[in-house]
Amino acid sequence: MENSRASEEHPPRKAWPVTLIFGVAAVAILAGIIFIFRLTSAPAIETTAKTRHNALADSSDSCVTCHEKSSPGIVVQYGSSSMAAARVTCRDCHEVKEGYPGSVEHEGTHVLNSPTTATCEKCHQSQVAQYNQSRHSLPAYVAVAGSQSLSPELLAAYQAIPEGTFAPDKARNILAEMEGPEITRFACESCHNIGRPAADGSVGRCQSCHIRHEFSLEQARKPETCNFCHIGPDHPQWEIYHESPHGIAYSTLGHTWNWEADTGTLTSEDFPAPTCATCHFSGFGGAATTHDTGDRLTWYLFSSVSERRPAWQDNKARMQSVCFECHNQNFIDNLYTDADVLTEKVNMWVRESDEVIQPLKDQGLITETQFDEPLEYEHYELWHHWGRTTKFGAWMQGPDYTQWHGAYEVVKGLATLRYDTAELLHAAAQLAPAE
Ligand code: HEC
Ligand code: HEC
Ligand code: HEC
Ligand code: HEC
Ligand code: HEC
Ligand code: HEC
Ligand code: HEC
Ligand code: HEC
Repeated sequence: MENSRASEEHPPRKAWPVTLIFGVAAVAILAGIIFIFRLTSAPAIETTAKTRHNALADSSDSCVTCHEKSSPGIVVQYGSSSMAAARVTCRDCHEVKEGYPGSVEHEGTHVLNSPTTATCEKCHQSQVAQYNQSRHSLPAYVAVAGSQSLSPELLAAYQAIPEGTFAPDKARNILAEMEGPEITRFACESCHNIGRPAADGSVGRCQSCHIRHEFSLEQARKPETCNFCHIGPDHPQWEIYHESPHGIAYSTLGHTWNWEADTGTLTSEDFPAPTCATCHFSGFGGAATTHDTGDRLTWYLFSSVSERRPAWQDNKARMQSVCFECHNQNFIDNLYTDADVLTEKVNMWVRESDEVIQPLKDQGLITETQFDEPLEYEHYELWHHWGRTTKFGAWMQGPDYTQWHGAYEVVKGLATLRYDTAELLHAAAQLAPAE
């Protein structure tokens, strides 16, 4: 429209040179800007590229030189790791003796396609020992596969994990059976195989958090690492964290934090606010670095009805010593007192949901089999999704999860269960033969 008005006011032949002059000027200015931009930005690009040092660039190791051709990505990734800089080689992780369980013959030697925790243990004993005491190890695997699949040695190891065997409700294993391995291979197992035993009898997958082949501390410390598994309606820790003031600090200012600081030395100067790793793993404030994720927890929150963990007072002291780096004692004591009360309240609601449907069980109006009636899904979601989310939201500062994805859904679920139970009881009474 503007063009046509312009041509009404000025004859076309006069408008031509004006447009042309503007056009030529614009192109010249743009070219100038691009030129200046390239001059100033070229060195900057070069420096960032240089910080990604490749420790394997001059290596004559045959693993490296050949894989530089067949899978250069692996060599570049590993070359930039601090392990490569410390002269840990491909062979240190992959090469094993002939006949080693799970190994294959490869280029005149024997290798593991998937190095196990036994490999890492050669150099990282304490991390492996802590990890094996945690629920990320065998308990995560048993949660889906059951303990009947374990060898006697592994069963003994599983039973010896102090916080490992508490797992009162296995209702969702029936879901896994219903869905079948075609589904669960991409579902339950993708997450729970973090604790899978390997052919050599060692347990777990360090690479679930230490993504190969960079094994970067920055990557392990960022919450995105945990969100592969700690996400969704039944354990929305990722969503809750992002809603919390800690997560806001991470999202807005995280790029200024000292991600590669040496382990065991971290302070609030490196991390002005915590990530998942700070609260659950890092040596921070008075707490030592740990791979035992239960080490700082007081409740079994994942449970339908939460109970206290063994030695929970010690665990509490360890978690709180992280908080004290940035908060005062009263602030944290108050939070713990209030969140304990909330946890008990959710316990009460969950027990109530069991009582509401009990008459249906007593009168045989629902089957023993789980998940064949809609009411059972309602009853299950009440604790497994909404009850747990209420608790997680309170403990990790996500008010919307405590409220609208949590407590609201619990009270709504209780109303639905009461109504449906009354309906079923009423229908059964009508059908009952007159005395
Ligand atoms: C002469 C070249 C060459 C050499 C030397 C070599 N590799 Fe390989 N490697 C390959 C190729 C090519 C593949 C892919 C094979 C395939 O896809 O079947 C491979 C595959 C692998 C695999 C995956 C095996 C699998 O079945 O998925 C591992 C692990 C591996 N190499 C490690 C090593 C290690 C460690 C060394 C040094 C001891 C080494 N390679 C030496 C060429 C080589
Ligand atoms: C610190 C231990 C470690 C070192 C060192 C290491 N790897 Fe690996 N590698 C692993 C782990 C862990 C996996 C992942 C296995 C899995 O996820 O199942 C893996 C997987 C692989 C695979 C198969 C999977 C794929 O992505 O194709 C190849 C090939 C491989 N590594 C080659 C190498 C080469 C070549 C080097 C040296 C440049 C090297 N690795 C150094 C631990 C290591
Ligand atoms: C041969 C010994 C050796 C083996 C085997 C080994 N590592 Fe390491 N790893 C080291 C050394 C040495 C360092 C310290 C590097 C540094 O900080 O300079 C290290 C550092 C690390 C780091 C910290 C990286 C950082 O930037 O500080 C991680 C994570 C790690 N290793 C994971 C693993 C995993 C997972 C395995 C098994 C798949 C493994 N390592 C196997 C020797 C080894
Ligand atoms: C997205 C990853 C993921 C998937 C998929 C998944 N889980 Fe989980 N599961 C978790 C996490 C994370 C926890 C721990 C929750 C917590 O502590 O807050 C957990 C907890 C559990 C627990 C309670 C802990 C225990 O040891 O008793 C059981 C049982 C369980 N899952 C079984 C299953 C089954 C069965 C399936 C498939 C039908 C499944 N999970 C699918 C990640 C997953
Ligand atoms: C659930 C996630 C997770 C798993 C699984 C995991 N790590 Fe870590 N790891 C971390 C985090 C987070 C850090 C950084 C801790 C910090 O901030 O100081 C770390 C740090 C490390 C370091 C650095 C040095 C140190 O003081 O701990 C090593 C080495 C390491 N891990 C080895 C392993 C090994 C070996 C395994 C398997 C047995 C493993 N990790 C499994 C999350 C994990
Ligand atoms: C590959 C999946 C996976 C990843 C990645 C993962 N987790 Fe987990 N995590 C699980 C599963 C599964 C469980 C539940 C195990 C059980 O209780 O049976 C769990 C449990 C936990 C627990 C509760 C432990 C307990 O004693 O009840 C904490 C805390 C935790 N994870 C923190 C983290 C943090 C922090 C990260 C990231 C640094 C992380 N996880 C990464 C799968 C994962
Ligand atoms: C400010 C510290 C803090 C941060 C950040 C944090 N958590 Fe937590 N987390 C806690 C506390 C406190 C609890 C409850 C501890 C208890 O039982 O006493 C908890 C509980 C958990 C549990 C429940 C374990 C159970 O009993 O079922 C899991 C799983 C978990 N956190 C994972 C994560 C993940 C994943 C992230 C990041 C997305 C994260 N946390 C971020 C402090 C934190
Ligand atoms: C590294 C520093 C740091 C650590 C460690 C830390 N916090 Fe925070 N926390 C902060 C910052 C920064 C804020 C945001 C303050 C604000 O909102 O102005 C915050 C805010 C909070 C809030 C306020 C939430 C709200 O709704 O306003 C709570 C509650 C909290 N933290 C609990 C904890 C607990 C519990 C721990 C230990 C498990 C912990 N924090 C560990 C830095 C930290």
